[in-house]
Amino acid sequence: MKRILVTGALGQIGSELIVKLRKEYGAEAVIASDIRSVDNEVVHGGPFEILDVTNANQMAAVAQKYNVDTMMHMAALLSARAESNPQLAWNLNMGGLVNALEVAREQKLQFFTPSSIGSFGPDTPKEATPQDTLQRPTTMYGINKVAGELLCDYYHSRFGVDTRGVRFPGLISYVTPPGGGTTDYAVEIYYEALRTGRYTSFIDKGTYMDMMYMPDALQAIVDLMEADPSRLKHRNAFNVTAMSFDPEQIAAEIRKHIPAFELNYQVDPVRQAIAESWPNSIDATAAMREWGFKTTHDLSSMTEDMLQKLRTTIMS
Ligand code: SER
Repeated sequence: MKRILVTGALGQIGSELIVKLRKEYGAEAVIASDIRSVDNEVVHGGPFEILDVTNANQMAAVAQKYNVDTMMHMAALLSARAESNPQLAWNLNMGGLVNALEVAREQKLQFFTPSSIGSFGPDTPKEATPQDTLQRPTTMYGINKVAGELLCDYYHSRFGVDTRGVRFPGLISYVTPPGGGTTDYAVEIYYEALRTGRYTSFIDKGTYMDMMYMPDALQAIVDLMEADPSRLKHRNAFNVTAMSFDPEQIAAEIRKHIPAFELNYQVDPVRQAIAESWPNSIDATAAMREWGFKTTHDLSSMTEDMLQKLRTTIMS
């Protein structure tokens, strides 16, 4: 990875990935791109291009202009937004991915794109969900993710593109809020705990989902991209996770710092149904074995760090 083009750079993952990559590989080596521009570190801290991922020619031209050797394709709609506009989700999630893979094929780029726990469905084993198992998702987002996993495998086996990817769980961070995901409650809860001392969850108690703290997710991307390809039996859809909890457990953890914190429920049937179609906890041993995947944060250390960092943001 010497020159890296990142799509969706202003999104939930992209905005922090850019900062990390620029730190590790140099500011000029990381070309951030997004369909819109804002006044922030991502746009001003190094090269930035406006790029609509559904425009194949524009994407090829940007990759060419900077002579990149790596593409990280992060632009996508998350699960709940995809469910509210499935046609747009298909066009953006699949159209963008095909365009990105074509640029990678033509310009011989190493390639990363994230899949998700959303690629699993109601018939998938719920506990210790294996790396290779029945998927059959029932959401548009999940259908996009499974198709994407297969397409990335195909571009590797058919065209020799060095494609790599993980199935991310819900990602929690204090920088850019997710927006439109099913796991978003686990981010909102921290903001509201600090702002108002209470949170009304749209996900019901007893609903378990996998989660990971953003610094661990970013490190996983770098580690997988730097991994020795001869060790990779899988390539594009490694299960990765750091923890699994339900709303009651995250609330209990928050109460260790904010004892009066109150959690209430107003369940959103759409997002609840999505959550129930996903696993409770996935098995990440293939990622550990094949490229040394590891995490440094559990629910307790993440909660401590989130509250500390957010307190500074909210108060400033
Ligand atoms: N956090 C994502 C979502 O909820 C999962 O991939 O859509």
